[in-house]
Amino acid sequence: MDKEQIALDGPAASGKSTLAKRLADRLGAFFVNTGDMYRTLTWVALHKGLDPAKDIAEITKLLHFVDIRYVRTQAGTMELWMDDRPVDLAKVRVSEVTAQVSHVAKIGNVREWMVSRQRQAAPLGLLVMEGRDIGTAVFPHARYKFYVTASPEVRAKRRFAQTGEVAAGASFERVVAEIAERDRMDMEREHSPLRPAPDAIHVDTSDLDIDQVLEILAQHIEAKRPE
Ligand code: DC
Repeated sequence: MDKEQIALDGPAASGKSTLAKRLADRLGAFFVNTGDMYRTLTWVALHKGLDPAKDIAEITKLLHFVDIRYVRTQAGTMELWMDDRPVDLAKVRVSEVTAQVSHVAKIGNVREWMVSRQRQAAPLGLLVMEGRDIGTAVFPHARYKFYVTASPEVRAKRRFAQTGEVAAGASFERVVAEIAERDRMDMEREHSPLRPAPDAIHVDTSDLDIDQVLEILAQHIEAKRPE
């Protein structure tokens, strides 16, 4: 039970979310998107007029007053809640939040707070969790670990296909540059930077469609499943 996690890590817009959701559906597993937790906290900070690049002490203080967690619904899925209601995901997946979230995600206290909440999902059973540090920090003993990548150009195309996440009128070049900058911040931060776990299976999805990637992951999982 304590190893029954599927850790799906990788850079921004690599297609992890769609993949993780489809994989969880296929396996009858729970799906947790940890990026939405960081996005929700970033949304709160922006809503309070804070500057995520500078107001680190104020953002750390917020952790005492907000409750962001995944809740199991009656339908057996996981739903992200803040305080006493579900998070409106369309609100946290907007370009204003995307542009600032890496600043919030590099704060050490924020990461500790998030990781302890993410680990609380472990007793549920088979879990597909996607993020940047799942195989390295949240569940370093997970039985299944994947590191999913794609070229910056392919990722920019995928980002354009996601409504709301690209600022109105943004050029393709600008989106490629923004993705590269977020990669840099996620990879160079001091606390649990984005990097593959030593035992993660790397999958480059640049030239593959979602069904092909799903098949690759499912085969690896099948091969490693305990008797
Ligand atoms: O997957 P996403 O683009 O929604 O993630 C938003 C940001 O949150 C991303 O820039 C890095 C951060 N993040 C993180 O640091 N650790 C995670 N486990 C998930 C996301």
